[in-house]
Amino acid sequence: MQLKPEEVAWAIEQEIKSYDGQPVLESVGYVLQIGDGIAHVWGLNDVMMSELVEFSNGTIGMVLNLESNSVGVVLFGSEKGIKEQDLVKRTGKISSVPVGEALLGRVVNPLGIPLDGKGPLVTEHFRPLESRAPNVVERQPVNEPIQTVVKAIDAMIPIGRGQRELLIGDRQTGKTTIILDTILNQKRTGVHCFYVAIGQKSSTISQFVSILEEHGAMEYTTVVVASASDPAPLQYIAPYAGAAMGEYFMYKGQHAICFYDDLSKHAQAYRQLSLLLRRPPGREAYPGDIFYLHSRLLERAAKLNDALGAGSLTAIPVIETQANDVTTYIPTNVISITDGQIYLESDLFYAGVRPAINVGISASRVGGKAQTKAMKKVAGSLRLDLAQYRELAAFTQFGSELDESTLALLTRGERMIEILKQDKFTPYPLEKEVMITFVGTKGYLDDIPLEEIRRFEKEFYDFMEHDYKQVPQTIANTKELDQKTTDLLTEAIVKFKQIFKADQVV
Ligand SMILES: Nc1ncnc2c1ncn2[C@@H]1O[C@H](COP(=O)(O)OP(=O)(O)O)[C@@H](O)[C@H]1O
Ligand SMILES: [Mg+2]
Repeated sequence: MQLKPEEVAWAIEQEIKSYDGQPVLESVGYVLQIGDGIAHVWGLNDVMMSELVEFSNGTIGMVLNLESNSVGVVLFGSEKGIKEQDLVKRTGKISSVPVGEALLGRVVNPLGIPLDGKGPLVTEHFRPLESRAPNVVERQPVNEPIQTVVKAIDAMIPIGRGQRELLIGDRQTGKTTIILDTILNQKRTGVHCFYVAIGQKSSTISQFVSILEEHGAMEYTTVVVASASDPAPLQYIAPYAGAAMGEYFMYKGQHAICFYDDLSKHAQAYRQLSLLLRRPPGREAYPGDIFYLHSRLLERAAKLNDALGAGSLTAIPVIETQANDVTTYIPTNVISITDGQIYLESDLFYAGVRPAINVGISASRVGGKAQTKAMKKVAGSLRLDLAQYRELAAFTQFGSELDESTLALLTRGERMIEILKQDKFTPYPLEKEVMITFVGTKGYLDDIPLEEIRRFEKEFYDFMEHDYKQVPQTIANTKELDQKTTDLLTEAIVKFKQIFKADQVV
């Protein structure tokens, strides 16, 4: 083939004419050092804190440290294929997650990437992982309850919408089960649930999800997963992602609840990152800002004022303790920034008191205002009965002679403990909670043998449902216990006890 110079000249001319490319200005940097999921990058001079950057292998990272001549970036994916001197591109985007109705029913990772194989998320709403918590003027005191349908919690440690209530206890004490029960009950309450699983085994999480699916609870629930095998940066941002998804509903005037299971593992993930970023370690090798990390997360829970739509975001963080020790660094921090704690104890759990809540030291500092009137009326004396019982029970272990009034208090207390027991996935709606608490605190159980209490309870509900339907119905509808209903309830109890006793004799 012969090349003709004029043809070549013509081809070059055409190329130049048709060139309409615009020069693109991209801010890039170079990897100085990479390892353990952390990259130190040189040259990203104008990058922002928590901005996302992209590596040559497509992995996304987040800027977490701004130093004088380099930035520290944590990687959300694999560092495979990234070498020193590789290019790093800015994205100009602050880390954010997809939010909105499309997330309900989905299992996603903390970047909003679906893990459930149900196709891509279709939503035009995004929120930054971190956002300013509502200030004092934008809030109002909590005034509506979150029904957990766990008797001991609703009666004595009530949780209000917009509150922060800590679930704390050793492993295997029933923390996650309480969360499950609470989620299952939000079916008809319009509260959207966000379960953030941090550092758990994947098998545990998939079991959790399948229980939700079985009960039709995924419709209003999103599960955000950063499992034990995910990189620490994903575990670190997981609760913020959950909070952002919940906030969407709060600012829309609706209700959401976020469960962070658990913040101990979250703190460990952050400690790992901080040490790798060479931040100075403090107490228990945690970085100094770990307190700020959790308080800024939990401050985002709020009940907004009416002008802002009166929506709410409730936060239920979980802390896993070792050998019941709540005086270590992370537990004490989180205790001090929540509005109350529910203590779960393995001793109680193994003694058969399930849920294993130690009601003596558990508290809810603001939820009382949100408790329904009916519950408030009957639960007041419950707390007192139990407190007196605990005091005496400690003494009577010495086997001394007991006078009649002491015996009476012990009898009452034992029975109250018995009725607060509850199997998992056995919800007790408000009307049942109110009726049985009424029965117990008014002393109607005092002459029933301890081992018969649970049977009594079960048959009593059936009896009420059958013969005195209007009582549970009125309580459920009005959420009050008026005089007429109280009289009817009393009448019913007396009648039922006769039947129950007759049964026993046979
Ligand atoms: N109220 C309950 N009644 C019966 N079993 C329970 C109850 N609560 C929890 N369990 C069981 O105890 C075990 C530990 O519960 P889990 O909620 O996973 O504990 P944690 O989250 O504190 O580690 C699970 O097998 C669970 O099914
Ligand atoms: Mg658990």
